[in-house]
Amino acid sequence: MDEIRQIEELKTGALRELVAIGSTKGLEAWRVGYLGKKSQLTGVLRSLGRLPLATRKAVGARANEVKAELEAGFKQKEQALLGAQLETLSGEEAVDVTLPGRALPEGRLHPVTQVLHEISDIFASMGFKVVEGPEVEWDYYNFEALNIPKEHPARDTMATLWLDYETESGDRPMLLRTHTSPMQIRFMEKVKPPLRIVVPGKVFRYEATDATHIPMFHQIEGLAVDKGISMADLKGTLYEFARRFFGPDRQVRFRCDYFPFVEPGVEMAIECAVCKGAGCRLCGGSGWIEILGAGMVHPKVLERVEIDPGIYSGFAFGMGIERIPMLRYGVDDIRLFYTSDLRFLRQF
Ligand code: DAH
Repeated sequence: MDEIRQIEELKTGALRELVAIGSTKGLEAWRVGYLGKKSQLTGVLRSLGRLPLATRKAVGARANEVKAELEAGFKQKEQALLGAQLETLSGEEAVDVTLPGRALPEGRLHPVTQVLHEISDIFASMGFKVVEGPEVEWDYYNFEALNIPKEHPARDTMATLWLDYETESGDRPMLLRTHTSPMQIRFMEKVKPPLRIVVPGKVFRYEATDATHIPMFHQIEGLAVDKGISMADLKGTLYEFARRFFGPDRQVRFRCDYFPFVEPGVEMAIECAVCKGAGCRLCGGSGWIEILGAGMVHPKVLERVEIDPGIYSGFAFGMGIERIPMLRYGVDDIRLFYTSDLRFLRQF
């Protein structure tokens, strides 16, 4: 049968060409030529009706088999070309494997965490051990043992978030710590002097939110107790911290302040970075920005943890953290740190 021979020749030729093809464009031309609507093979299948019944069956069957073989060959070649394309630099549609890859989105530490680490590292290099304490506290550690008994006015300055837990006598002794100072007591209950610690962590206050207030923020507490520790040690340590963190040119100022758990108490301010002490909006016209409270540990606090204030003395300090990156980077709204806006956070 002529028709069958024609089909066999067609197949042999098509497969020979297929082997030699080196590009997807070439392959597509091959597909159109041998399997497309206007191909010879399609023509044969279309004209079957004109053949005598006897040959029609045999020719039709063979033509369909060849068609399937050519289609399978096409698929295989297509895969091979795609694979080769990914690996080589030759060929018109090749992938350039020397192009730099797309950067994967990369996580990083939150700006407040970065600052906490930086400050902890400075104190660690001065011999302070970094420790952490619980965020849910007892009234005893947060107030009582720090010389802030019930009815003490200092309690009102730290609007407290109390936990719902009530004792049989109707007391509500649990709270979210309003400062990191309770860890002074916890640590000195267990460890006797000489000791030097810093305590970074979250603190909570029941406050309306605005550009400078949020109900959760961070502090870092410091405590050093030994024989013969004086106010000079406190000032020397905090000067050194300020020099390392803010740079050697920024002025530092100490003034008297009151905190129930220290005597005497001080507040430390640094020269405003924006106006260099001249007075501007950022520092409220004063030229100074307060960054921490500090003082010599109150003898009553030492007595409470059975450390003899006749033998030992110490200094303590507590610093708010969020203010510091705000001052450093000129962030004018504290809430920006906690709204999880990646456009903001990616800048640090
Ligand atoms: N705990 C105080 C506060 O949150 C800050 C403070 C002041 C801590 C004086 C101290 C200190 O250790 O000595 O306002």
